[in-house]
Amino acid sequence: MTILITGANGFLGHYLTAQLLKKGHTVVATGKGECRLPFGDNVHFQYISMDFCDPFVVHDVFKKIKPTVVVHAGAMSKPDDCEQQQWQAYLTNVEGTVTLLLNAEEQKSFFVFVSTDFVFDGLTGMYKEEDDRGPVNFYGKTKVEAEDAVQEYEYDWAIVRTVLVYGKPSSGRGNLLTVIKENLEKGEEYSVFNDQVRTPTFVEDLAAGIMAIIEKKATGIYHLSGEDILTPYEMSCKTADYLGLNKSLIRKVTAETFRQPAKRPAKTGFIIDKAKQELGYSPISFAEGLKKTFAD
Ligand SMILES: NC(=O)c1ccc[n+]([C@@H]2O[C@H](COP(=O)([O-])OP(=O)(O)OC[C@H]3O[C@@H](n4cnc5c(N)ncnc54)[C@H](OP(=O)(O)O)[C@@H]3O)[C@@H](O)[C@H]2O)c1
Repeated sequence: MTILITGANGFLGHYLTAQLLKKGHTVVATGKGECRLPFGDNVHFQYISMDFCDPFVVHDVFKKIKPTVVVHAGAMSKPDDCEQQQWQAYLTNVEGTVTLLLNAEEQKSFFVFVSTDFVFDGLTGMYKEEDDRGPVNFYGKTKVEAEDAVQEYEYDWAIVRTVLVYGKPSSGRGNLLTVIKENLEKGEEYSVFNDQVRTPTFVEDLAAGIMAIIEKKATGIYHLSGEDILTPYEMSCKTADYLGLNKSLIRKVTAETFRQPAKRPAKTGFIIDKAKQELGYSPISFAEGLKKTFAD
């Protein structure tokens, strides 16, 4: 079985590649530019530079690799960038997904698409897989369109939705916890929302859940997140407490008082019973995730 991953240089892509290799799977990691992964080419691993928005390149790669499984984790993943560069976001998140689906179809690959809690409107929170979607920003809209395309795929598919992913940074890009640490260590104030509710996801749990989907060939939609229900402000305070940093530098803000280019859904968070029952998914607590994020 050959597993092709898009966005392999990204936060999730890095951990997913590492876990699959550890279990002895054969991985073709793809990314936009040069390889930023720390694994050398060998019989189980190779890196190919593949801009998935380029249909000719994608076609060549798929013809050569003939992937059994495609995990599409690559995306324009920052909501504010998507809001400000909508054409680029559409090309990347929607058209790029369609290009991959068309090529996967030729190989009858199992297609696993990584989506987001931002497909929901955030009015109720604690969403189940079958709940109605209603994105409030352009990033969410592109993910809804891409999900729709995946659901029309002729062969087996799975959609994995996740929520605010954290953990030890892989290749540079930080996440809420590491950004808080950096700012507090410099003695700088940092503003975080206290009117958003999430179930933050430890990146290695997400990767393990996706690996279970691949190994069980589980199809359909799965919600993979943590179980602790927290606001980003609460996450930040817990981070400061754990690291012994000055949490009075953390400023509590709300959507009313702190504007961002892309509106955020207020309350998300997932019910993950389906993943627990069908995949044996078992995420760690936020307290444990904090320890692992900052372990040496
Ligand atoms: N992180 C979260 O909190 C979160 C929450 C919910 C859902 N998600 C979803 O989970 C998935 C993984 O997220 P992540 O945090 O790992 O994102 P990430 O770190 O931003 O990684 C995304 C990767 O996609 C690559 N990419 C973008 N456009 C590409 C293109 N045209 N061709 C090839 N590669 C391209 C980027 O390559 P470059 O680095 O070369 O630009 C980047 O490495 C994404 O689909 C995201 O929408 C993430």
